[in-house]
Amino acid sequence: MLIRYKKTFEKIAMGLMSFMPTEKDIKKLQATIKDYETDDSMQLFLWKEEDIIGLLGVLNKEDENSFEIQHISVNPSHRHQGVGKKMVKSLKELYPDKQISANEHTAPFIEKCESC
Ligand SMILES: CC(C)(COP(=O)(O)OP(=O)(O)OC[C@H]1O[C@@H](n2cnc3c(N)ncnc32)[C@H](O)[C@@H]1OP(=O)(O)O)[C@@H](O)C(=O)NCCC(=O)NCCS
Repeated sequence: MLIRYKKTFEKIAMGLMSFMPTEKDIKKLQATIKDYETDDSMQLFLWKEEDIIGLLGVLNKEDENSFEIQHISVNPSHRHQGVGKKMVKSLKELYPDKQISANEHTAPFIEKCESC
């Protein structure tokens, strides 16, 4: 299930976030997590099965009534099992009125989720 990020999940969130090609630099990674903690327009979700194995970060574009997916990652041991697609599907189910879009860094995968 998709759960909301909170500070107690910081380490696991940083680990998952570091799989994004844009977040390889530790300073950038820390700044990104901080942005999610402090910027009201940014929301971070984690995917929890037995453990937390995925991360999904969105920018809430109020004016467009849309969520732009900025970050998406799955623990490498759990890839190719549909977790990434399940996260996107759950986001759509949680926020049925929102349009879901991608940015240049997440589009290649999110485009595969159009039928999710
Ligand atoms: C992208 C990612 C979240 C997918 O998670 P996942 O749980 O393995 O995805 P699913 O099992 O739901 O879907 C697998 C499909 O996604 C495709 N896929 C995986 N990574 C992809 C990528 N970077 N770009 C496009 N498609 C990708 C697979 O080829 C597979 O396609 P198929 O269904 O046609 O065989 C995961 O590979 C990851 O964490 N990558 C590192 C972070 C990253 O690069 N994020 C940005 C992605 S654009």
